Amino acid sequence: MQKNAVNQVVVVTGAAQGLGLAIAKNFLSEGKRVVFIDINAKLLNEVKKMNLVKQSGSSKMMFLTVDVSNVSAIKESVQTIMEHWGRIDVLINNAGVRKETSVEKITEDEWNLILSVNLGGTFFYSQAVLDTMKQQKSGRIINISSFGGQAGPLSSGAHYCASKAGQIMLTKSFARSLAGQGITVNAVAPAAIQTPEMDNIDPCKLEKMKESIPVQRFGKAEEVANMVSYLASDAAGYITGSTFDINGGLLMR
Ligand SMILES: NC(=O)c1ccc[n+]([C@@H]2O[C@H](COP(=O)([O-])OP(=O)(O)OC[C@H]3O[C@@H](n4cnc5c(N)ncnc54)[C@H](O)[C@@H]3O)[C@@H](O)[C@H]2O)c1
Repeated sequence: MQKNAVNQVVVVTGAAQGLGLAIAKNFLSEGKRVVFIDINAKLLNEVKKMNLVKQSGSSKMMFLTVDVSNVSAIKESVQTIMEHWGRIDVLINNAGVRKETSVEKITEDEWNLILSVNLGGTFFYSQAVLDTMKQQKSGRIINISSFGGQAGPLSSGAHYCASKAGQIMLTKSFARSLAGQGITVNAVAPAAIQTPEMDNIDPCKLEKMKESIPVQRFGKAEEVANMVSYLASDAAGYITGSTFDINGGLLMR
């Protein structure tokens, strides 16, 4: 791995809110340079205005509006990052869309959206950073999967669960193919973490969900971010192809 961890460049997709923002903040607090990728330019602009700039120095941050379901846009963003900072050390594939639609009602458009963002975005962003990481002989890719990709629907549809299960398999495929080149690839599988996304779930369903969580509370975005930071660190160099559960005990394997 790169000796000077402070100068590392970390790319976080879906970084304008929720888990992505918490993950990005954690890396900034470690002194790393962070690229905030999101499809939502307005939200990204709000993040730009946050105190993060004062805390970390604006030179440590880059904001790019990118739709991760668009392969050319992904490639362009990687080119921009390389022109600006000349390296990419860590990629966090976090951008995701969740919908609860029943199997009877999922349309072709909705299927394509979920699969192209959650699974396609993960595949094509990982593919786009490979040359750089291989040349550096070091890199970390961390995919934000889900409990839904392991145990099936809790508050999500078949398309979402299938995309999240696919991310776990992409994790293993990339990990095996890159293991000899200093690049590790892992996934985390959260459940019921408090983020703005939770506002879209019916409050009655949320209450029931909370009662079924063995630790009897929802998770915090920082708890996921801390695991991601560990997986991105030198200390995790012998871990690859693994998926880490962060679910308050909902699923014990
Ligand atoms: N919050 C949870 O409990 C939970 C549980 C399991 C898995 N996850 C996964 O964690 C990730 C983040 O979840 P969250 O709860 O923070 O969600 P969120 O909806 O709060 O944030 C997702 C972010 O991704 C961005 N995004 C959506 N589509 C995009 C696209 N095409 N290109 C680029 N950016 C895009 C959104 O604008 C948003 O900023 C997702 O992949 C989600 O599936 C979350």
